[in-house]
Amino acid sequence: MSFPTVRPRRLRRTETLRRMVRETRLSRENLVLPLFVVEGSGVREAVASMPGVFRYSVDALVDEAKRVHDLGIPAVILFGIPAKKDARGSGADAPDGVVQRAIAAIKRGVPELCVLSDVCLCEYTDHGHCGIVDGDEVRNDPTLERLASTALSHARAGADVVAPSDMMDGRVLAIRRALDGSGFEDISILSYAAKYASAYYGPFREAAESAPAFGDRRSYQMDPPNRREALREMRLDLSEGADALMVKPALPYLDVLAEARREFDVPLAAYHVSGEYAMIQAAAARGWIDGARALDEALVSIKRAGADLILTYGAKEVAARLAP
Ligand code: PBG
Ligand code: ZN
Repeated sequence: MSFPTVRPRRLRRTETLRRMVRETRLSRENLVLPLFVVEGSGVREAVASMPGVFRYSVDALVDEAKRVHDLGIPAVILFGIPAKKDARGSGADAPDGVVQRAIAAIKRGVPELCVLSDVCLCEYTDHGHCGIVDGDEVRNDPTLERLASTALSHARAGADVVAPSDMMDGRVLAIRRALDGSGFEDISILSYAAKYASAYYGPFREAAESAPAFGDRRSYQMDPPNRREALREMRLDLSEGADALMVKPALPYLDVLAEARREFDVPLAAYHVSGEYAMIQAAAARGWIDGARALDEALVSIKRAGADLILTYGAKEVAARLAP
């Protein structure tokens, strides 16, 4: 039986019917808002390439966290930008570092808000790479202890979930051991498992002042054409003790996300990254697309492909539009 008996358009006739047969629904529970924290007090600096995104000092960040919680968003992920950077990224695991103070302040001020912390060295190193550098090489194994120490310092500050984004081999195991060795066996690891060397991180690197001073990240982040390798990375991270996995960026890698959804039964996150957000905002500012609709469409597509959690700079805007 086919046309004219079968007419898929019948169920698209009214908004009520469309609502009834809708397969995927974005909800506020799916959202995680990235937040940038800087030194100082009373700071709220706009990030030029990401309209609606700001860099906050710790005090102002707590106020923002309250607003985020009031919108029904369950979680934030924090990125620290220290005043001083050095070769080994000393600020990354400083007990009184900017992100450690931010974590503690949010957990004090808004205890119900889930705090994820990005674990990496690139915001803290003067060369901007995600690991320890030797000549022009980013060395894997010496970086592991720095990452483990950084994750531990975040757990001590009160982070609920640590999220390593460096792409060194073996970091999940190193972090798991460090956490378990200090009584933090209940702190989760969300691994940026399939993180690609992407052109879409540009606005983030401006906001986080973390662009590499030389070379690029292609010797540690994944090569965009590879899909099988992403599954292997995810399998490895699970075997090292990751509780949840991330694919990043999101829209250009929905195939990877969909395949991960079929393959693994752990929660999956996708990062709708800075460049993805900036493209929508830039086109919308010129009147070339409807920014709100484009953002909603992007996020529901990410969920449809299989993400449980979506990290997005548009979380507040979208949460405000969504029904409770
Ligand atoms: C740091 C990190 C980056 C992002 C998240 N963590 C940048 C990078 O790898 O260069 C990108 C996030 C975004 O673009 O929104 N390792
Ligand atoms: Zn990094």
